[in-house]
Amino acid sequence: MTRSLTYFPAGRVSDYAVDTPATPTDPAQDDSEPFACKLITLPAPEPSPGSLVPLPAKKLAVFFRPDMGKFWAVNNICPHQGGSFAKGSLIDIEDFGIKWGVAVVCPLHSWSFHADNGECDRSRFVLDTHDVRVLSADGTTVEQKAGVIFSPDMSVEVSIEPKNKDVPGPRRDFGGVPLE
Ligand code: FES
Repeated sequence: MTRSLTYFPAGRVSDYAVDTPATPTDPAQDDSEPFACKLITLPAPEPSPGSLVPLPAKKLAVFFRPDMGKFWAVNNICPHQGGSFAKGSLIDIEDFGIKWGVAVVCPLHSWSFHADNGECDRSRFVLDTHDVRVLSADGTTVEQKAGVIFSPDMSVEVSIEPKNKDVPGPRRDFGGVPLE
């Protein structure tokens, strides 16, 4: 069943410029690809009827990989102990040289979570992942794929609802407060 998602502005493509390191890294020492990351705050959800406690606004870490022409968005808070993915990294998931996905890596203890389905490499915890779409000036959704050239003024939007709700497993985000 296809669920419809609602979207929230996450800036423009130009906000996801990738810094070029002043000193190129040694390819033999570093197999990570350059990426950009931006922190987005979603609107706070409506409190449930009768509740006096406001629900915290959720922050998403939005990643862009220019070599893949693709964006990902995940809950910024690591379900393990609250690390901030915005300070983490993005890696390829590969077996025997075959790349089959991308994972976000937490900066605190290096657990990694699949950037699309949210599954963890070391536990049953699941990380909320959100859809990201790129829109041209006329509102057309632009396909994300390797080789695509996005115009800097194109809009980036993230889904307010997680796209991986159907993936089973415990989730937690410590009230949205990162452990620094
Ligand atoms: S807090 Fe993220 S791996 Fe431990």
